[in-house]
Amino acid sequence: PVPSVFRLAAIPGDGVGAEVVAAGREVLDALAAGSGGRFAFDWEEFDWGCDHHARTGRMMAEDGLERLRGFDAIYFGAVGWPTVPDHVSLWGLRLRICQSFDQWANVRPVHFLPGVRGPLRNADEHDLDWVVVRENSEGEYAGLGGRNLAARGRGGEVAVQSALFTEVGCERIIRFAFDLARTRTRRKVSSVTKSNALQYGMVLWDDVFRRVAADYPDVETESVLVDAMAARFVLRPQDLSVVVASNLNADILSDLGSALAGSLGLAASANLNPERRFPSMFEPVHGSAPDIAGRGLANPIGAIGSAALMLDHLGLPEEAARLHQAIHTTTRAGILPHDLGGTATTRATTQAVITALT
Ligand code: NAI
Ligand code: MG
Repeated sequence: PVPSVFRLAAIPGDGVGAEVVAAGREVLDALAAGSGGRFAFDWEEFDWGCDHHARTGRMMAEDGLERLRGFDAIYFGAVGWPTVPDHVSLWGLRLRICQSFDQWANVRPVHFLPGVRGPLRNADEHDLDWVVVRENSEGEYAGLGGRNLAARGRGGEVAVQSALFTEVGCERIIRFAFDLARTRTRRKVSSVTKSNALQYGMVLWDDVFRRVAADYPDVETESVLVDAMAARFVLRPQDLSVVVASNLNADILSDLGSALAGSLGLAASANLNPERRFPSMFEPVHGSAPDIAGRGLANPIGAIGSAALMLDHLGLPEEAARLHQAIHTTTRAGILPHDLGGTATTRATTQAVITALT
């Protein structure tokens, strides 16, 4: 048979982004090499990020979006470095891609790995196994507002940052969460808002949630305020399966979730354009980690887990499952990077995953 060749764009970005993307690529290439010619990956790498900004004044090439458009998927590291203000680097690259390619669903699984001791010491890989579904196109990250330095003179500056909630935007992400819940052992969707304080946008979200829930009588539901949910993540993790929330709330909750699982370095994510009109983008949840960058200390598991999500998206679910198994084999054997209390370098952890694959 003719092999499927997937065209993948790699954007390592800044800091540990380069280290973990290299690790994930190596693992994916090992899988392809072992596929008996069934599939292959054709990579093109883009050197966009804060260095590119220093050279050109832009985070990505002017025609960057056009160049990315034709790829089957985008594999992303992290963006951000102390040389460029964070809101400039994030908006100039990652958010620009997410928004232009209508990647409106951000899927962030959180689960325990065998051999990793998280702060919830008595919980294990059966207790903590959720997916955080993050609305990824509007909400608090709609970029609406402005600063007015002049209006009230020195010391009186005013800034407005508005959140945008549309019925269409709420409904599609909530339906996505329900459809995802139907594929899981525990069929439950927890919706997170702060509708007691945010009385317009989040009340709209709650109304849409109730309406959509009626179409899924086989799925358990609950609505929880975000502060209460933060406590629940810690106190009753076994109660959760799919957690759906707005852009900002889900961003915060998924970092909390990955920390509970052991480290931010473990967390994987998919920025999906479910209609497949544009390429989707796969990236670890963590940032560029300037404090450990360039020393071989970065945990590659979040990036490798994101590669598994990409395999699923490309129609290779068996390979995705094999990769998850290889990650489990690695952590169960006690091969853990520094952030998990071990001594394995990025390279050694990556090698262990590749060895477990073959
Ligand atoms: P961060 O995620 O880079 O680091 C937070 C902490 O987690 C640090 O102590 C770091 O050493 C540790 N950590 C992160 N990834 C790790 C890994 N793979 N292995 C081991 N330890 C790891 O978040 P921070 O420090 O708030 O932001 C640094 C830069 O990254 C900023 O410029 C920020 O804007 C950017 N950022 C980018 C994101 C993205 O591209 N998706 C997401 C979050 C932050
Ligand atoms: Mg985050």
